Amino acid sequence: MNKYLKDKRLLIVSNRVPYSVSKIDGKIIYKKTVGGLVTALDPLLQRIGGLWIGWSGVSGTNRETGDRVVIEEGNGLKKYELKFVRLNENEIKDYYGGFSNRTIWPLFHGFLFQSFFDHNYWKAYHRINKKFANEIISVIAKNDIVWVHDYHLMLVPEILRHNNTNLKIIFFLHIPFPNYEILSALPWNKEIIKGLLGCDIIGFQTKKDAVNFLAACKEILKLKPDFNQFKVSYENRAIYAREFPISIDFENFRKLGEKKEKSKFIKNIKAFSRDTRFILSVERLDYTKGLKERFRAIERFFDKYPDYRNKVVFIQIAVPTRTKIQEYERFKKEIDEMVGRINGKFAEGLWAPINYIYKSFSQEKLVSYYKLSDICLVTPLKDGMNLIAKEYIAVRSETDSVLILSKFAGVAQELKEYAIMVNPYDIEGVADSIKDALEMDIREKRDKLIKMREIVKERDVFYWLDTIIHSFIELVCKNK
Ligand code: UDP
Ligand code: G6P
Repeated sequence: MNKYLKDKRLLIVSNRVPYSVSKIDGKIIYKKTVGGLVTALDPLLQRIGGLWIGWSGVSGTNRETGDRVVIEEGNGLKKYELKFVRLNENEIKDYYGGFSNRTIWPLFHGFLFQSFFDHNYWKAYHRINKKFANEIISVIAKNDIVWVHDYHLMLVPEILRHNNTNLKIIFFLHIPFPNYEILSALPWNKEIIKGLLGCDIIGFQTKKDAVNFLAACKEILKLKPDFNQFKVSYENRAIYAREFPISIDFENFRKLGEKKEKSKFIKNIKAFSRDTRFILSVERLDYTKGLKERFRAIERFFDKYPDYRNKVVFIQIAVPTRTKIQEYERFKKEIDEMVGRINGKFAEGLWAPINYIYKSFSQEKLVSYYKLSDICLVTPLKDGMNLIAKEYIAVRSETDSVLILSKFAGVAQELKEYAIMVNPYDIEGVADSIKDALEMDIREKRDKLIKMREIVKERDVFYWLDTIIHSFIELVCKNK
């Protein structure tokens, strides 16, 4: 771990804390929340300790626990603390369900026609960003590194900066940053860019996201960014925009994979299904993840290659997410209908082509599914990174593993040479790629898997943290 962090405290701020916390029979129960941000940051805080400020996921105060809880020490891990930001029903509706997830989320993923521009949403977003900033100000200590995360809190850096001009602030955006033409449609685009410019260094998942941000500074704010040094000057300060592709705790997933080698769950399924080959997809049930297009490709695959009927099963794990938001509710209905229709069309005896699971699993259970599956199908229409692809690779020691990957996922920049790359909108192309994956030569599979494992192992989440802290020291601390 970076020496610089020894006498520092990481002060992480994100919309949601990584655990939902409840008290059952006097005992505090923690349940990890599902999403890439939590998967990446939780192991870091477990190792280094720190304070994480965020919303608990429920309205008002969590009466069972109060406003602060400590994640318990265990297995040599450090303690870290959670501090809750209280949100009431209306705030959740307009700031979280509204501006964050009906305006920014679709817009930043390129779904312009699905973005709602509502003044009340914007006002709530502004107000809640202030609330988060005030929570930070109330606890901040001298040796803290303030690190704000994700699209819910893009105004926080500027609010903090106005409060204390000497503060050093890092921001990381977990989702894509759109090109300036798409951003131009947002009536509050200037405020969003200025909000981000309050920090010293902004991390993006890909170089393209960083370039898009600098281009937005140029086209929308009329600033003069330096595209060679990935930096822009604003209010007499330099702000750096850099790519830091997020990752996973590789070693942890590898070990979980080893532990599941002799899993009863897998043995039973294999004994029951004999020579069936399994293809896996996992994600939150989000319209950006490309489930509809994928199911169309699966339908096309069984139409075009009928010999594979009865021999291949697609397992789709879809985690319930943002269920109170209209677009998500509608999307779920459409997916339910599609799965029913496709299964009804091809099912025979006990076999059906899609095994659709609508629930969330612990990561340990998820690893069993990774171990079971010869192919992982990761085909988002647009995705900041997509950690499922990295987790699958980390877990698979079996040589007969293939990753089919959308060119629109952030992770494509690291794995595109060794995965089967697809355009998720090209239904015929995805159907053919599935056949190619099933028929790929064992040596080719092995060589590609080895290369992908090397990449994910080397650039794990600890490496990610190190590169960010290193840039922070070199670019920000030494120059201030
Ligand atoms: N995940 C989980 N349980 C599940 C399904 C997914 O814990 O049942 C985790 C998974 O291990 C991964 C994360 O959810 O780390 C999803 O991250 P990803 O980057 O793929 O997408 P995001 O949800 O952040 O858009
Ligand atoms: C994505 C976002 C995260 C978010 C997660 C789950 O990964 O980048 O910020 O926490 O989705 O979404 P939710 O709305 O349940 O927090």
